[in-house]
Amino acid sequence: MYGHHGMLEEREGQTTVLSPSAQNQDLKTNVQLLHAEDANPRSRSTSLREGAALARLESPSQAPQRRTEESEPIPKPASPKKKPRKITVRTLREMKSSGEKITMLTAYDATFARLLDEAGIEMLLVGDSLGMVVQGAENTLSVTLEEMIYHTRCVARGTTRAMVVGDLPFMTYQISPAQALESAGRLVKEGGAHAVKLEGGEEVAPQIAAIVRAGIPVIGHLGLTPQSVHAMGGFVVQGRAPEQAEVLKRSALALQEAGVCAIVLEGIPAPLAQEITASLSVPTIGIGAGVGCDGQVLVIYDLLGMSPDFKPRFVKTYTDLFSGISEAVRSYRDEVKDEVFPQPEHSFY
Ligand code: KIV
Repeated sequence: MYGHHGMLEEREGQTTVLSPSAQNQDLKTNVQLLHAEDANPRSRSTSLREGAALARLESPSQAPQRRTEESEPIPKPASPKKKPRKITVRTLREMKSSGEKITMLTAYDATFARLLDEAGIEMLLVGDSLGMVVQGAENTLSVTLEEMIYHTRCVARGTTRAMVVGDLPFMTYQISPAQALESAGRLVKEGGAHAVKLEGGEEVAPQIAAIVRAGIPVIGHLGLTPQSVHAMGGFVVQGRAPEQAEVLKRSALALQEAGVCAIVLEGIPAPLAQEITASLSVPTIGIGAGVGCDGQVLVIYDLLGMSPDFKPRFVKTYTDLFSGISEAVRSYRDEVKDEVFPQPEHSFY
């Protein structure tokens, strides 16, 4: 592996720090490979990477030092990093019974996946919310299975510990259990998902049972289900009326009976979410459903303050990245126009 954090190599599932001579050899090999790639006229970034690799080889301060007889004894390689324990359906069950809250966030690409995974988020949801926050659509209805597979694959590549959950988009599971199974299978096989999520109550129990029978973990989604935006008359809180609340309670039990490993509860009153959570042996993950759920989920762009025009009550923004990014980009624009960037240290001679 040749990453941003020094040179590490994976052997038999373990990460080992390479010796300086092996690092040097590795750099040379990379340069040779980069030369080979450079035959392609489109590989502009390749020559930049090549320059960086050569610079490291040439720079006395950064090149691995040759050891002489008088120099220090060769230090033992650092002990191999322990691989973090992967989050599985068993972890979710254990967390529910121990009372440890489960954290889930949406991710749509490998960079964010790595950030969230390394921060210890247990579940990464490749939500069909990407239709809104990535694609700029009004709702999630136009998202396709192909798009979900693509984004799920990106997230899976950036993840080592978290459970990657792929959302089944609108009309890829509602038609029949066979259709649901085929779609779920593609999210796992082509996207690398560890589990799939689908929206709906008792009516999708046969779909859930079919997917679970094939060995794919399923997460249910009840309450404000965005794929039913037209039927709900907008993105509005569900389960306030007693008869609606009863349907939700029954649905939660039906989903559990069908075999889900968790249920997302979205946009329902906190006391109802708490009651549903207490009635289930599988964990609930809430969004706009109060603190009584077994875990919480948010759309990552909302948490980071990247959606300045979207400030619903259930979102807490932990930072203001919209302003931060905007400021950085404006500085870049100004510096390019004023010829302040690039400086000699950003240039090749
Ligand atoms: O698509 C999504 O991001 C979701 C979460 C908001 C639960 O379904």
